[in-house]
Amino acid sequence: MNTDDTVTFTTQFEEDVYTGLTDFPKHLSSKYFYDKTGDKLFQDIMAMPEYYLTNSEHEVLSLHTRPILHAFDSQKEGFDLIELGAGDGLKTKILLKYAIANKYDVQYMPIDISQNALNGLSNSLQNEIPDLKVQAQRGTYFDILKQLKTMSTRKKVIMVLGSNIGNLLHPQAIDFLKNIQEAMNPDDLLFMGFDLKKNPQTILDAYNDSTGITAAFNKNVLVRINRELKANFDPSKFKHWETYDPETGTAKSYLVSTERQDVEIKNLDLKISFDAWESIHTEISQKYDHPIIKWLADESNLKVLDQFSDNKNYYANYLFTVK
Ligand code: AVJ
Repeated sequence: MNTDDTVTFTTQFEEDVYTGLTDFPKHLSSKYFYDKTGDKLFQDIMAMPEYYLTNSEHEVLSLHTRPILHAFDSQKEGFDLIELGAGDGLKTKILLKYAIANKYDVQYMPIDISQNALNGLSNSLQNEIPDLKVQAQRGTYFDILKQLKTMSTRKKVIMVLGSNIGNLLHPQAIDFLKNIQEAMNPDDLLFMGFDLKKNPQTILDAYNDSTGITAAFNKNVLVRINRELKANFDPSKFKHWETYDPETGTAKSYLVSTERQDVEIKNLDLKISFDAWESIHTEISQKYDHPIIKWLADESNLKVLDQFSDNKNYYANYLFTVK
């Protein structure tokens, strides 16, 4: 809310929307994509043929299930598998099914910001792997990183799939990795998925599908601002735009205003003006190569233990330990 010249906010969402839309150039954080509609749209994205990431990581985990589990706990002494951003857990189930069938003593601790996603996951695990111990927890990465150290007294395998780290620019990614590293004991492991550099066209197509699902996902942040902050964005007056820089490996999403327009955000007491063709930057999806991953690990006090890839080398899952 705006009172005179001091602005106070009741939620982080309010503050971030205010900051991002009054900045130049304008930006909004991709973490706000994931409300109920956004979760559903992301499910639809993962099912699209163009969005190769899900299939590639599925293949990595299917091809290398046995060595991955062996690396997690070679002596079958027991471990807690803590997954940040578990979502529907579809890929994780490959590892969990194998672990239970092969008498690993594993407890699965999925963490997600979406309670919706966690409920669905817990139910499906109960049906598909009834012998698995599950302890789900709702929270943001930020909440969880603070608790990570005390969450478990057993060996921890911390897992981040889906190239979720790709939403962070390298300096932030290093911060994130450092935070995880600080919560790790000498035996603990970090298992993380990275989308690799490849034909730039393949990457652009994954974020610019012809059916418009990604466009709807991107525009959903405007719909969410309309609903939660009483605003009047007209999503049809914004165009989804994707870029990919093969040198830096950064894919970026924008919403581009197709005309000069004013938007009112009642709960922020704010009027935002857009010039014709002015942009809002909404997401980055970083692509990696092996030297960059090694550099990120090094900067974060982590050591590469092993690495697993799919047959096309589209994707890699890395196993790290504390340096
Ligand atoms: C969930 C962050 C990995 O960046 O590829 C999919 C989200 N955005 N299509 C990604 C996303 C547009 C996705 N991550």
